[in-house]
Parts: sequence; structure tokens; C-alpha cells
Amino acid sequence: TEALRVGIAGLGTVGASVMRVLSDKAAELQRQCGRPISVTAVSARSKGRDRGVDLSGAQWFDDPVALAKTADIDVFVELMGGDEGPARDAIKAALEAGRHVVTANKALLAKHGVNLAEAAEKKGVLLNYEAAVAGGIPVIKTMREALAGNSVSRVFGIMNGTCNYILTRMEAEGLSFEDCLADAQRLGYAEADPTFDIEGNDTAHKLSILTSLAFGTKIASEDIYLEGISNISQADIRAAASLGYRIKLLGVAVRTDSGIEQRVHPTMVPTQSVIAQVHGVTNAVAIQSDILGDLLLVGPGAGGNATASAVIGDIADIAKSQPGFQHGPVFGRPAKELKPYKKAK
Ligand code: NDP
Ligand code: HSE
Repeated sequence: TEALRVGIAGLGTVGASVMRVLSDKAAELQRQCGRPISVTAVSARSKGRDRGVDLSGAQWFDDPVALAKTADIDVFVELMGGDEGPARDAIKAALEAGRHVVTANKALLAKHGVNLAEAAEKKGVLLNYEAAVAGGIPVIKTMREALAGNSVSRVFGIMNGTCNYILTRMEAEGLSFEDCLADAQRLGYAEADPTFDIEGNDTAHKLSILTSLAFGTKIASEDIYLEGISNISQADIRAAASLGYRIKLLGVAVRTDSGIEQRVHPTMVPTQSVIAQVHGVTNAVAIQSDILGDLLLVGPGAGGNATASAVIGDIADIAKSQPGFQHGPVFGRPAKELKPYKKAK
């Protein structure tokens, strides 16, 4: 059987972990997918950097757009980040060339996801992005596939591992905000620009994607009330604790009679509540819908292995798809069918 040929652009925390797991789990993945998965092309900024992974079997590309267009790949995996520039150009080029795409880039999807979805659906290829929301938690598959037929009324939760890690350690160990953030960066949880994490933008990007899946609307990441955690002090955490609360950065999207309400802000949650028991880099996404009722997904929200797990799940879905396989729409319904977004009054 022919191998699925994968090109990976971006070999940082996530890309290097994906390379490592694809190599360590090659035999298991081949058994599950019915064919081998082979990384045939890679790209990053610095060619000479030692990334602790074997790149010898893959062709090196200085230019990720050239990699995206090469005929030597079936799937383009974008793990560079950034909502414009090479990430956007390369994904567009890959879709236009009829390649499937896998990405973890929520900033890009929040800005250009609907256009990219239209391009993928026009070409009949997959655009998979499980890793873009809540790290390793399979929330996209859950909302896109498992909840078919449900009407969602609310989706909310802890969607940024860096912030939850900082708040957890500030409370449990009395550490400073700055020390906790530095550790989150060292552990590979934070964005290249960590202000996206601590000011809530990253949660907003993820929330806007879940809002589209939940309510069938176009993505509206600019219509989100935004407040991050950079002003949260030890005094705030202690005051909340003395009242029986814990501070969590939540993203919330609710359907109201007048439209959709989206917000991201630090929230005092009762210490005994389930969401207050979600510690460290763990994320939690709660979904309320009419047929199923209340669903809570909890799991690792950031870091190399957690994110690689989701990326590899997306690649494996493509490896398992058969010739003539009908690809489902990127945001759960055809991109052209997504309703205009209506903000709540
Ligand atoms: P890193 O900063 O660790 O890695 C980025 C990689 O992209 C590096 O290998 C870098 O090359 C490469 N790169 C950057 N710009 C270019 C360019 N112009 N051309 C070619 N290569 C380029 O980021 P992460 O691995 O942490 O994140 C990657 C993506 O995954 C982002 O979209 C992020 O939001 C997302 N993500 C990250 C998670 C995490 O826990 N870290 C979790 C979920 C999603 P070089 O190494 O040579 O500098
Ligand atoms: N910086 C992000 C976080 C990575 O901390 O949650 C996962 O999307």
C-alpha cells in the first residue's frame, strides 16, 4: 500500500513533537490506518538547528509555500503560527494545489477560517484543525460530528493552558505571575508572543471557532468582549479564595434571543465546582445542547505531546480516507451555508 506523504512546515514545540511521535508510533499508526505515514518534506526558519529529531528522510524547503505546492506530498501540515504571512500563503497554496491541510493555527482560522474552508470545500479536500482548540481535547470532532442534530445553546470553558497554569501555580504555590509565565514558556505552552495568552486573545480565537461550530455562523473573532489575566494579583486570588471562589480565565459563547454573546474574562467560580478543579495546563470545554444535555470535555490543553496527539489524529483521518470518500464540510455545514453572525444586544 502507498504511504501517505506528509509535508510539515514548522518544527518548533509542536512540529518536532509530531515528527517524534510519527517516528515512535510508525508501526502502530500503519496498523490503524492501513498504510504507512511518511514525512517526505519539512520546512522551518533555521535549517541548521538541532531539533532532536531525525530529518534525514525528508526533503528540506527554505520556503514553506514551495513545500505546500510540491507534488511530493498528499498532506500539508502547518505548524508555524501567525495569522498572515507564510502560514496563510502556504495553506492557500496547498488547498489550491489540491492537498489536504492540517493546522494547529487558531489565530489564522479565527481570521481567515471561512475563506479557507470555502477553498477546501471547492477542491474537495480536508482542512483539519483539531489541535487549534484546547490542545489534545477532541472538541472539534465532538462538535462537528458527534453532536450532529443537536442545537447548542452555550459553549464555555478554560481554553488556554498557559493562563490556567499561571493561575493554578499562583494560588497553590504563591508564585509571582512573571515566574509562572516564564515556566509556561519554558515548557512550550505559551504562544510565540505570550501576550496572546495572557491578554485573552488566544482564548478568543478558540472561542470564535467553537462559536461557528456551535451556532452555524461565520467566525466573528472581533466581536468578543476581551479581558486577560495580566492584572490578576496574589491579593485578588486570596480575596476570591476567602469568599469560596477560584479565579479562572473563561471563554463563553451563548445564544440569546437577540443574537450571540461571546466573552473572555477572568471569572470567579465556586471552589467546589467542577471547573474550579481543572488545574495546571489542563483545559475544559462545556457544551450545552438539546438532545445530549450537558457535556464536559477535560484534558491536556497545550504542550508538544498533547498538541501532537491531535495533529496526528487529523493526519490519521486523512490516511484512513478511501478513494471516492466524501469529505465533510470544514465547519460542520458547507461554508456557503454559514449564517451571518448576529451580535447579542
Ligand atoms: P514554535 O515557535 O515553537 O515553532 C514555530 C516553528 O515555525 C519553528 O520551527 C520556526 O522555525 C517555524 N517558522 C516560523 N516562521 C517560519 C517561516 N517564515 N518559514 C518557515 N518556518 C517558520 O511554535 P509552536 O510549535 O508552539 O506552535 C506552532 C503552532 O501551533 C502555532 O500556530 C500555535 O498557535 C499552535 N499551537 C501550539 C500549541 C502549543 O502548546 N505550543 C498548542 C496548540 C496549538 P525555527 O524553529 O527555525 O525558528
Ligand atoms: N498557548 C496556548 C495555550 C497553546 O497555552 O493554551 C494551546 O493552544
